[in-house]
Amino acid sequence: MKEVKFIGVKEGANVFSLRKEFVLEKAERAVLYATALGVYFAELNGRRVGDAYLAPGWTDYGKLLQMQKYDVTELLREGKNVLELTVGEGWYRSGVVCTRKRYGEQTAVCAELCMEGCLRICTDETWQAQESFIRFSGIYDGETQDYTAPCKLLTPVIVPYEREKIVPQMCEPVRSIERLPVREIILTPKGERVYDFGQNIAGVVEVKTAEDFCGTLTLQFAEILVGGNFYTENLREAKATDTFTVRGEKTLSPEFTYHGFRYMKLTGAQLPGESVTAVVRHTDMRRTGWIKTDNEKFDRLLENVIWGQRGNFVDIPTDCPQRDERLGWTGDINAFCRTAAYNYDVRAVLRKWLADVRNGQATTGEIPHIAPDVLGSKRTSAFWCDAIAMVPWALYRMYGDTSFLFENYEAIKRFIDARERTMEHGLIVRGHEFGDWLALDNEQFADNGLHGRTNEYFITNVMQTETLRIAAEAAHLLDKADEGTLYTKKREKLLAAMRREYFTAQGRLVFDTVTAQTLALYFHIVPERYRGKLAAMLNENVKKHQYRISTGFIGTPFVLFALADNGYFETAERMLFNEEYPSWLYEVNMGATTVWERWNSLMPDGTPNPDGMNSYNHYAYGSVMEFVYRRIAGIEETEAGFAKVRLVPHPCENVSSLHARFDSVHGTIVSAYERTNGKIVYSFEVPEGVVAEIVLPGELPVSAEYGVHRYERVFPETEKFGK
Ligand code: BGC
Repeated sequence: MKEVKFIGVKEGANVFSLRKEFVLEKAERAVLYATALGVYFAELNGRRVGDAYLAPGWTDYGKLLQMQKYDVTELLREGKNVLELTVGEGWYRSGVVCTRKRYGEQTAVCAELCMEGCLRICTDETWQAQESFIRFSGIYDGETQDYTAPCKLLTPVIVPYEREKIVPQMCEPVRSIERLPVREIILTPKGERVYDFGQNIAGVVEVKTAEDFCGTLTLQFAEILVGGNFYTENLREAKATDTFTVRGEKTLSPEFTYHGFRYMKLTGAQLPGESVTAVVRHTDMRRTGWIKTDNEKFDRLLENVIWGQRGNFVDIPTDCPQRDERLGWTGDINAFCRTAAYNYDVRAVLRKWLADVRNGQATTGEIPHIAPDVLGSKRTSAFWCDAIAMVPWALYRMYGDTSFLFENYEAIKRFIDARERTMEHGLIVRGHEFGDWLALDNEQFADNGLHGRTNEYFITNVMQTETLRIAAEAAHLLDKADEGTLYTKKREKLLAAMRREYFTAQGRLVFDTVTAQTLALYFHIVPERYRGKLAAMLNENVKKHQYRISTGFIGTPFVLFALADNGYFETAERMLFNEEYPSWLYEVNMGATTVWERWNSLMPDGTPNPDGMNSYNHYAYGSVMEFVYRRIAGIEETEAGFAKVRLVPHPCENVSSLHARFDSVHGTIVSAYERTNGKIVYSFEVPEGVVAEIVLPGELPVSAEYGVHRYERVFPETEKFGK
């Protein structure tokens, strides 16, 4: 691809296609290399090349552009062949972030078809350029296709791009993964025809027109109905509208956009349910984790977490798939990373994303809030920016692969330096913060409580101790013992300063929010001798909140661990199974099929939170599933990568049977239990070569090796919660 030209069109069409005819004496083995400034798909002799959507995917295009490689041998034939490339704007030009930032003004495609017999067909100005049947396409706004009007010829032009930035595809692409039939056709109170797919997803809808159809179909997308009516206000400025103008029978779906939706409103025809299908599209990842119980609501919550992951791994890990955002927010994946890595093999997709985090890092060390960094906001904000350390660390622990640490180590060091510049008297006191984002303990404040009540610099100092711990451990793993010692010392110094500032002489934490207490316990900020006292305070605090959730993005991933690991498992369990607003199961009771952005995205009366920003598919709070894997099923690594594991199940009152499976890089691990008639049977599966320590409730650990292990115990049935 070295000398191959990027070709765009002079007229600057939103979507265009390039066509080349060539003659082969015989069909032969061939490979197509292609990429675009924009998004593209290729067709050879009228047949689609490969099964990727939204190629070349989203990267920090100023620094990195992925190139795809396709084996096209099957598609070539003897004699005349036609190669056609259709190019849309995608993330490159259709505008990302609500401000609609563009990477560049001119979209272009670059391709090289290499035949075994050395013939090469490369994009250049001799290709025929023309308008496409796709008249318009944008990531947020949807797609317009017209099969009835002629396509005008356009003028091909060379578009400059620095080839050194081109790299081979780094992870599996976005594909059509699953098809969902219409569950119900609804005629809403407003008289609109709405198709319900029963599940909030990221993807598109495919419609089939009948032979006698002639006209335009308009498809709009929504996550929820309000008062029974189609509701799109939470999409903000994303138009999320597809239109198809067509004559006769045709199967139609958009190419260069995707939507976050459960409902589709159709105008232009009254298609029967069989002619309408939702197509789930996301990064093609291998499933590695499953949890199934006999508690339907709880299973629904876990299903919602899985769907939240599927809806938000669309080439990059996003915050949400529906509104004019869909960005790689660093804090969101920091909360969700471990859960994501239990559920699916996310190594490649997150390695690619971490490259974009590094590419977005300021020369002075600050880390972007989103990656790819289109916002240009490079800061030191707690938890969001700590993703540069915490995400690689989580991946290292889950997969045992030190390359995640190696690749990010220098970036972590530079980030630590940047943050140290915000310190005074040994503590971080300056810089932009999101705080305990969306925590509900601060609603009386003017900003509608977006930032929660927990002291924001307390959070930052906590996160700095964690990033320093990771830097120290990474340094040792990477044979940089001196640097390891340096970071350990820095951490100890910071801890000492925090203990002076944040604890009274009698060891009371000066902040009383659930999040502050949680962080102090989970991240070992509290002096050990006061741990018990603080844990008791946290327990009281949660009880005072009637086991409801008061934490935001920062406290939520850790609160159940802080309780369970400090003697209050029962409180954690009650919180997990609580159904009162706000709680995880409240959302399930409200009909959620994915995890919401806010605890109150839907108010108890079924109306959306009035504060505009409402996504019904945000995975951050889905981080609770990590707790279920690690503490309820009790599948925990004691050595990075699960070569050594501890299986420590905790049977819950509300779950009589549970089966959890995790396909680790060392093989399948199972932890299950079944409780009947005063008895409980535990069963475990340990993969070959893995050493397990099995800890049954109230018993001493036993070690177990390869194979299936079964234990039967007496288990007195007790009253269920709430009875
Ligand atoms: C996003 C988040 C993100 C946050 C940062 C929101 O608009 O949807 O999930 O982390 O902004 O404050």
